[in-house]
Amino acid sequence: VRLDRFNTFGLPATAERYLPLLHPDQLTGPEFQRAPDLVLGGGSNLLLMEKVPGLTVHVLMSGIEWSDGKGRFRVAAGTDWNQFVRYTLEIGFPGLENLILIPGTIGASPVQNIGAYGAEVSEFITAVHAWEYGSGPVVLSPDDCRFGYRDSRFKHEPDRFLITAVDFDLSERRPLKMEYGAITGELARQGITDPTPADVANAVTNIRRSKLPDWFFLGNSGSFFKNPVVDRGVYDRLLDEFPDLPSYPIDDQSVKLPAGWLIDRAGLRGSGTSRVGSYEKQALVLVNRGGARGSDVLSFSRNVQRTVREKFGVELEPEVRQVPAQVAAQLSL
Ligand code: EPU
Repeated sequence: VRLDRFNTFGLPATAERYLPLLHPDQLTGPEFQRAPDLVLGGGSNLLLMEKVPGLTVHVLMSGIEWSDGKGRFRVAAGTDWNQFVRYTLEIGFPGLENLILIPGTIGASPVQNIGAYGAEVSEFITAVHAWEYGSGPVVLSPDDCRFGYRDSRFKHEPDRFLITAVDFDLSERRPLKMEYGAITGELARQGITDPTPADVANAVTNIRRSKLPDWFFLGNSGSFFKNPVVDRGVYDRLLDEFPDLPSYPIDDQSVKLPAGWLIDRAGLRGSGTSRVGSYEKQALVLVNRGGARGSDVLSFSRNVQRTVREKFGVELEPEVRQVPAQVAAQLSL
């Protein structure tokens, strides 16, 4: 089965075997005694090489259960993330407004601990329902999930669980998250002084649309690299040379740097070939300009890593998942 339309980068790929997962009952079948080679959700964080060997399971179970009438939801893994965000806002349970318009599925949201504009999904998750291969259904608490910045246990144990549903609690009224200059700036531009959650959702929508390409028209997987965390000593040295370097403090020892800024200042924003490159309005997003293959993206991303390493001495780590992982070595890029 071709996966070209099942990955937002629009890369050509073929799954050797393809199984749509439409109902949790299927999980008791022999295929799920061990981990499939690829579990596919919305395909929005993937760098697919042309051949995906073995079994690809496409998680398609969808639906939102809202039974307590308060603000607790159980959402099937294949449900579109943004549809859920819009639904909760419409029925009067704000909280997820900063996370509007993130592509991908509910099941992928805890894996990556998706985050944007000062919010992370882990703040709202009360349980993750999963199938443990070779064992059976399990329920993981937020602590069990070991959430971090773009990180969770599911990234470290990729062959252990298939996420079937996620529980969210939006019953608590929280203050709006406005610490991002981009949000306050956008609200000020609109002349809004006392914003509602809908105003914040609208502001985030405008910001995202102005910086991030719509994968429907220009294939991409959002931020290609994580924002690197460096020691304070490294940061201080960089700041001497680049006084306008933005940063996000982590703790006394470490600082997070915006990878987009590093790539931009290395002169790579908008660069690339006719097939693949860095997006003109947000350097951290690599785009498929048409006809790109996984190997083109991989080789361009290696160039970006090398250039940033040479200029700043900082290592960029991809946040998109390359599948299959071992192809890079064979390509000797
Ligand atoms: N910047 C540049 N040039 C660029 C891009 C960015 O100078 O080409 C500078 C910006 O001016 C800003 C800083 O870098 O000072 C950070 O840029 P931005 O606010 O766009 O955010 P980011 O750190 O690049 C992260 C997430 C995004 C998320 C935004 C908003 C990561 C890896 N990415 O991007 O997530 O939407 O913050 O919260 O943490 C994604 O994961 O796909 C994604 C888009």
